[in-house]
Amino acid sequence: KKGNYDHFMQKEIHEQPHSLTTTMRGRLKDGEVLLGGLKEHLKTIRRCRRVVFIGCGTSYNAALAARPFVEELTGIPVTMEVASDLLDRQGPIYREDTAVFVSQSGETADTLLALDYALENGALCVGITNTVGSTLSRKTHCGVHINAGCEIGVASTKAYTSQIVAMAMMALAIGSDQISTHARRNAIISGLTSLPSFVSEVLKLDAEMKELASSLIDSESLLVFGRGYNYATALEGALKVKEVALMHSEGMLAGEMKHGPLALVDENLPIIVIATRDACFSKQQSVIQQLLSRRGRLIVMCSKGDASDVCSNGSCRFIEVPGVADCLQPVINIIPLQLLAYHLTVLRGFNVDQPRNLAKSVTTQ
Ligand code: UD1
Ligand code: BG6
Ligand code: NA
Repeated sequence: KKGNYDHFMQKEIHEQPHSLTTTMRGRLKDGEVLLGGLKEHLKTIRRCRRVVFIGCGTSYNAALAARPFVEELTGIPVTMEVASDLLDRQGPIYREDTAVFVSQSGETADTLLALDYALENGALCVGITNTVGSTLSRKTHCGVHINAGCEIGVASTKAYTSQIVAMAMMALAIGSDQISTHARRNAIISGLTSLPSFVSEVLKLDAEMKELASSLIDSESLLVFGRGYNYATALEGALKVKEVALMHSEGMLAGEMKHGPLALVDENLPIIVIATRDACFSKQQSVIQQLLSRRGRLIVMCSKGDASDVCSNGSCRFIEVPGVADCLQPVINIIPLQLLAYHLTVLRGFNVDQPRNLAKSVTTQ
């Protein structure tokens, strides 16, 4: 079942041009988004007071990646909940809320308990899941199956990118009655259509990421700084590195750098800075300058052709990625980090598909 690949994680990373195609199949027609699972509920969602995203692990990170464009395209305030934390706090959920549950398996205990809680509180409950017939799919009022195909590697890869794309389509469908965002929606729809070919292009960085991994093999820690659309990319890239490569890694908001993390910077600690083109680009350029002035060991992820603009003094390494519509860039940017985590794991001699102490689906609290 692994075909020409050594591990399921590797197969699933390289499968993403295909899995993203199946996520979108039949759902983008003549510049319109058709989500059969949501269409009867769009009016209710448009009238809600708030969208609350709820999930665990990678699925939470996918929702975090969706947050900016859901806010932008719908105008509805979006809040984020890690499922266990919502339960610990018994945080407020109201009838006027749309609670969106994101789960690859649809069987994660914390997420399902949070679903029961939101149902009791009368919220409209929407599922985003890869598993038809799962408890999440059955118990939610409506939802979207991401159709990424079975994911076997414990570390989620292709489900993450398909979840983001499913939520982009959801945001487009909710916002489709808005005239002011019409041109923006069309640009995103055409971005979605071309996304699989850009994913194929970024996968060509495989050998380069293996080489980068070999330079990081003995590091004790790896920081990843992102912001805006790519804050989630930083968290998810770091999660991949810690869960499979068993290396300490933290994703951080670049805007918070001065408020603590800067104290960690020295010439040994590797730091990945995500600085692809979007409205935050100039802010990320100044973050890079501040890190360089503290002799930081930088690996900059930037848009193709931007390397010399981003760091001209020759002291950075680069990961150059193709540019897509800004809000879809997280789908591209996570892929080199998935490849990096994969190669780092193999080079460090750890089990890729079955990391120490982890389970694919955590069905107990
Ligand atoms: C559905 C069919 C698909 C078919 C297509 C043709 C299924 C599972 N899907 O896809 O095979 O090709 O019509 O038009 O038979 N749902 C939830 N919670 C979730 C996810 C989904 O309640 O977390 C519900 C949806 O609201 C919907 C149903 O499950 O009622 C199927 O969802 P989905 O597969 O996403 O719908 P379609 O894309 O229309
Ligand atoms: C587990 C997995 O912790 O559950 C993670 O090891 C996953 O990879 C998380 O992200 C949430 O799983 P699900 O199925 O709810 O998306
Ligand atoms: Na359902």
